[in-house]
Amino acid sequence: MSEQLDYTKLIEQSDYQKKMAAEKSVELIEDGMIIGLGSGSTVYWMLKRLGERVKEGLVVKGIPSSKRTAGWADEFGIPLTGFHEAMQLDLAIDGADEIDGDLNLIKGGGGSLVREKIVNAAANRLIIIADKSKMVSHLGESALPVEVLPFGWEITAKHISQLGCVTTLRKKKKEVFISDNGNYILDCQFDHIADPKSLHESLKLLVGVVETGLFIGMTEQVIIGENETIKIIY
Ligand code: 5RP
Repeated sequence: MSEQLDYTKLIEQSDYQKKMAAEKSVELIEDGMIIGLGSGSTVYWMLKRLGERVKEGLVVKGIPSSKRTAGWADEFGIPLTGFHEAMQLDLAIDGADEIDGDLNLIKGGGGSLVREKIVNAAANRLIIIADKSKMVSHLGESALPVEVLPFGWEITAKHISQLGCVTTLRKKKKEVFISDNGNYILDCQFDHIADPKSLHESLKLLVGVVETGLFIGMTEQVIIGENETIKIIY
């Protein structure tokens, strides 16, 4: 039995698919690039592989989209920078919670959606890496994360729910989840998101809303790990 097959037994199938997609994305990274580093478990595998390439001599700098990603990048020896040094990134690589046929996304499952959107919007190209379970026919199967200011979050939640969803304040181990920006996350379950762009715009008009987990028209390419193969969608 090959080493590869032995290894697949050690991790869940979806993790293996995430790892395959993540490693494929690192092939797009070239010497001298400034890279937006997304967040989440799929991005973990990307950072691990990128760290190996950095050790082999690849020269890059990354801008992390979460404190956790910054920690992993540090662990893997990936040099970091910030927007003080680079206002335009060559490439951003990030995960997603849902991806539709138009490559629109729901993100924020890990609570990093604001920084992810800032980093991804500053990149010339956004590459999304995921396992195949993230592909959906319509966005909204899972709850849409919306970051809100803690002050008056109850009234913000009421206004959001009037758009046709059930809002739940995100908690972690029974404590209110606090984002890297010191804000709360409301997970908003819609029956169906018919028009992601107009929903995003309606949410952004509400006072107290910082950002939504809808990433519309930002993705250039999706790399999907599917069983033993890689699928690339443009
Ligand atoms: C974090 C995110 C992640 O990219 C998203 O939740 C996917 O995570 P994973 O790769 O662990 O499935 O948006 O805010």
